[in-house]
Amino acid sequence: MIKNVVEIANVFIKEGIKKGDVCVDMTMGNGNDTLFLAKRAGKEGKVYSFDIQKEALKNTRALLKENNIENVTLINDNHKNIRKYVKKNIKAAVFNLGYLPGSDKSVVTNRKDVIGALSDVLELLEMGGFVTICSYLAHDGGIEEYTAIKMFLSALDRDKYDVIHIAHFLRKDTSPRLIIIEKKEK
Ligand SMILES: C[S@@+](CC[C@H](N)C(=O)[O-])C[C@H]1O[C@@H](n2cnc3c(N)ncnc32)[C@H](O)[C@@H]1O
Repeated sequence: MIKNVVEIANVFIKEGIKKGDVCVDMTMGNGNDTLFLAKRAGKEGKVYSFDIQKEALKNTRALLKENNIENVTLINDNHKNIRKYVKKNIKAAVFNLGYLPGSDKSVVTNRKDVIGALSDVLELLEMGGFVTICSYLAHDGGIEEYTAIKMFLSALDRDKYDVIHIAHFLRKDTSPRLIIIEKKEK
């Protein structure tokens, strides 16, 4: 059975990404999402992956090497600066928010940078492209980040975007959420 929001997100990613697609991992962390995207996009595709922590790049570089993956550009910068690095349209972007597991919990995503990055990502998204956001409410600032994302999304043009919101109904109010945004085909 599917256990958590990341696994549910991966079902959509597996279905939505084809060989040759351009994708972005907005929060690289230990590289698991980057690896998943890179395998889906294949050699003919491309993945850009962002993190503000050098440790994330080190861990991800090692994971990609282990798996013989070469179609990824690792970027040690804030995801709010995506426009500096990504010039083409993208098929998908993945936000797995919060802090790097097993690391300094004070380095955590924040609502201002996430909303700035999300706004640019939606412009870069090709028609039929999508964004997945795994949002964790239980850590400091988590609820504020999630609330800001919901407010931002509620103002989107319904003719251009579709938004799916997934929560575990029987779990705590602060259990993680998955949000999927699709840019509709014309
Ligand atoms: C939950 S982890 C991501 C997990 C990761 N995708 C994986 O597969 O292991 C969140 C990551 O976001 C990074 N992060 C926090 N703020 C950021 C920002 N403004 N721009 C880019 N990355 C950021 C953290 O350093 C942390 O590594």
